[in-house]
Amino acid sequence: MDTSAYSIAQLAGDLREICAQTKDEREILSRARPLARRVALAKGSWLKPHMYEGDAEQGFGVHLLHEEPDHTLAIFAVSWLPGRGTPPHDHGTWALVAGVDGPEMNRFFERVDDRTRPGHAELKKIGEKVYGVGEVLAMPTGGIHNVWNETDKVTLSLHIYGKHINFTGRSQFDPEKQTETPFVLKLA
Ligand SMILES: [Fe+2]
Repeated sequence: MDTSAYSIAQLAGDLREICAQTKDEREILSRARPLARRVALAKGSWLKPHMYEGDAEQGFGVHLLHEEPDHTLAIFAVSWLPGRGTPPHDHGTWALVAGVDGPEMNRFFERVDDRTRPGHAELKKIGEKVYGVGEVLAMPTGGIHNVWNETDKVTLSLHIYGKHINFTGRSQFDPEKQTETPFVLKLA
């Protein structure tokens, strides 16, 4: 494991360089993926105790570490309270999530409705995977997942988005009620 120093500022600089060289989302994800792993394993360079604080109402704590002036290249530390998580959601941009402390369950979904009724969405579960420390989930724009901390300790992961996800107009979904509604995060 490469646990040598790698700061959030270095990561942001490397991401800026990648995004200046290509607009191809698949290429951005494949080139940024090893950087996400590297920064997750180099947590000594950036992780602070307050980033473990979660929001009891929301179920998780969102700590902004970096964004560009136009809200692109947003980097967050997200802490997950035990037994808590998110509803299924999309991001409205590409996403990389790297495990930093503890395993996190991800369930993946796809839309199966025809998207013609505003506020209505039907989801089908297509898979699940637990991501551990140093493992990286890469999701293209349009990917839908939810995250759950199934452990009895706070877990923490590093999230990188093409754009700050409170500025992409992204959605959360209720598979039972078959609804799609805006999903805006409360930041710490
Ligand atoms: Fe997500």
